[in-house]
Amino acid sequence: MAPDALVRLQKVSKVFPGGVVGLDAVELDIAPGEFLTLLGPSGCGKTTSLRVIAGFESPTSGNVLLEGRDITGLRPFDRPVNTVFQDYALFPHMDVAENVGFGLSLRGLSGAEQAKRVGEALDMVGLADKLGARVFELSGGQRQRVALARAIVCQPRVLLLDEPLSALDA
Ligand SMILES: Nc1ncnc2c1ncn2[C@@H]1O[C@H](COP(=O)(O)OP(=O)(O)OP(=O)(O)O)[C@@H](O)[C@H]1O
Ligand SMILES: [Mg+2]
Repeated sequence: MAPDALVRLQKVSKVFPGGVVGLDAVELDIAPGEFLTLLGPSGCGKTTSLRVIAGFESPTSGNVLLEGRDITGLRPFDRPVNTVFQDYALFPHMDVAENVGFGLSLRGLSGAEQAKRVGEALDMVGLADKLGARVFELSGGQRQRVALARAIVCQPRVLLLDEPLSALDA
């Protein structure tokens, strides 16, 4: 295994209540700057792997390392990791700008800095004109791009994308 892995899974297993094995002793190294794709049949454990790296699921055994540091016990918010979920998981009671800015407001950025970063992120995904739109007014592909903007706006060390292109055209 490379000594300089950004993310390392060490013998990570996840057995769900009821006995379903989601992950079985997974070993995985992801290098800094690497773009890694997990490909496999439905139910093989792709989403579970991402949830374990993000901290939404704790492994039954094994460890998650970030730049050599064991982060297995850290809460999601305390990890420099952001996720675009398979179902987007946008906040339905917030408009587009509030969705994208949520992580920045948790981190205590000033209103002006938040607005600037939210504007840049929405520009990047081509939704600058949807700042004040409600989530229910958006198409599936637009929702997916809001989720992407929300994930990149905090400039995470690790960006996890679960089926990131399913609703997007080229
Ligand atoms: N919360 C849970 N409770 C019980 N079993 C679960 C839970 N989450 C996932 N599983 C099971 O773990 C296995 C892996 O699921 P996972 O969602 O990681 O698959 P996937 O590779 O992402 O599939 P897909 O391509 O359909 O999204 C499946 O058998 C699934 O039923
Ligand atoms: Mg999945």
